[in-house]
Amino acid sequence: MPTPLRRDGDLSRRTFLLATGGLTLTAALAACTPGATTASPSGSATPAPWSPPAEPMTFPKGYTWGASTSAFQIEGALTADGRGASVWDTFAALPGKIADDSTGDPAADQYHRYADDVALMSSLGLGAYRFSISWSRVLLTGAGEVNQAGLDYYRRLVDELLGAGIRPTITLFHWDLPQALQDAGGWASRDTAERFADYAGVCFEALGAAEADWLTLNEPKTHAFVGHWYGVHAPGLRSPDTAAAAVHHQLLAHGLAVQRFRDSGAPGRIGAALNLIPVIATEPDYPEAATFTDARENRLFLDPILKGTYPDDAVGDQPGQLPADPAAFLELQQPGDLEVISAPCDLLAIQYYGVTGVDGIGNTVDIAPTSAATWQQIDPQGLYDLLVRLKDEYPAIPLIITENGIPDPTPDITVDDPDRIAFLRSHFQQAARAIGDGVPLEGHYVWSLLDNFEWAEGYTQRWGIVAVDFATQERTPKASAGFFTDVIAANSVNRD
Ligand code: FCB
Repeated sequence: MPTPLRRDGDLSRRTFLLATGGLTLTAALAACTPGATTASPSGSATPAPWSPPAEPMTFPKGYTWGASTSAFQIEGALTADGRGASVWDTFAALPGKIADDSTGDPAADQYHRYADDVALMSSLGLGAYRFSISWSRVLLTGAGEVNQAGLDYYRRLVDELLGAGIRPTITLFHWDLPQALQDAGGWASRDTAERFADYAGVCFEALGAAEADWLTLNEPKTHAFVGHWYGVHAPGLRSPDTAAAAVHHQLLAHGLAVQRFRDSGAPGRIGAALNLIPVIATEPDYPEAATFTDARENRLFLDPILKGTYPDDAVGDQPGQLPADPAAFLELQQPGDLEVISAPCDLLAIQYYGVTGVDGIGNTVDIAPTSAATWQQIDPQGLYDLLVRLKDEYPAIPLIITENGIPDPTPDITVDDPDRIAFLRSHFQQAARAIGDGVPLEGHYVWSLLDNFEWAEGYTQRWGIVAVDFATQERTPKASAGFFTDVIAANSVNRD
């Protein structure tokens, strides 16, 4: 095996190299679907030719079609009704952290425009809307007295959605930790998991009567790694050991919140939202680094939640592993933690953006076309492979896809977006194919409903199916919104 290469010098949300050399995305999608070649982490390349059938692919009755957003990315109104600061307020205010030096104000100002936005969702035919609650609107310092005005905003939003026949899918934590909790140790501290459970309890009490899907955490991996190891997201730390603690304490928070949910007797469903990524070994003679990367990226989160165990190969100093001290990671785990983390859930939410290649020494390799988000390697077939893997390797659980999408090619307002239509169509086809092969997939949400504040990229990446002019807050549905409306109305996707 070649000398292990530590990649700490190349840490960004983009961990992949560009290799598409001028191929347009539409051409690339056509070239890679059908007939993409994927390989398991064990390195065995398997040609998997597949073509969508000529007739429309129909989804099961009751299939949920939705669109997703998150609080800090769309709400704006950062000081309205006494909202407390989050780590993203603090981070975005630091010079040089956000590509265009922007902040979460005004974002898409949904705090003030939610009623119009719900009407827009209705006009698109959405069956569900996924949004997140800003913890520091509800509890200004993350704990203590409830800020009624902040909580009431979410009551109004939920009522508006239910009135329009749109199912709320409510994320409790989408990375905007109250700054006061960060000051007290953040996710490095076990106490944050307890505070999260208390906050979740407040939300269940206020909103739990609604028929809703609840998601405890959004992408604990991205928050742990990009925020605590790469330093590219809030809170901007660069410590693999802190990232490992953030993994365990977020997962513990998830389990404690699931227990609170059960205790509350709420009628809805609950689970976590994990971003998962097929890892393909590009040097089949040296597959170990890909196996370790798979452990770090996927099994480190799936196994504890669904099986009640941590994989033993995710943390350590081998290429592909999270380079934290395995003994310290073990020490964080108190007796009973894994039982809490694996408290039975009603669903697993998957966020799928693409695949990654990994070479024999742990470098990420581009094996698929990328988008303006250069961390994204687009491979619709990877979604099918991922869904089938979940069915085959994990206990049965209903699945929903709660994020899936691409950014526009430029930072400018774009209304004609053929690349996004091609992306969505090909991913819907792979989802339908997986359902046909027995995967219990129950819904598909696009990322995102609206152009918004894309974290460290600020307003330079537009991911919406609806364009937003941030100066006027005017909303204009893109061509992909029309495409999505047609898919929803037919509950099926055409070949082309
Ligand atoms: C996901 C995040 C979401 C958005 C998309 C593009 O990882 O959950 O907030 O940034 O990526």
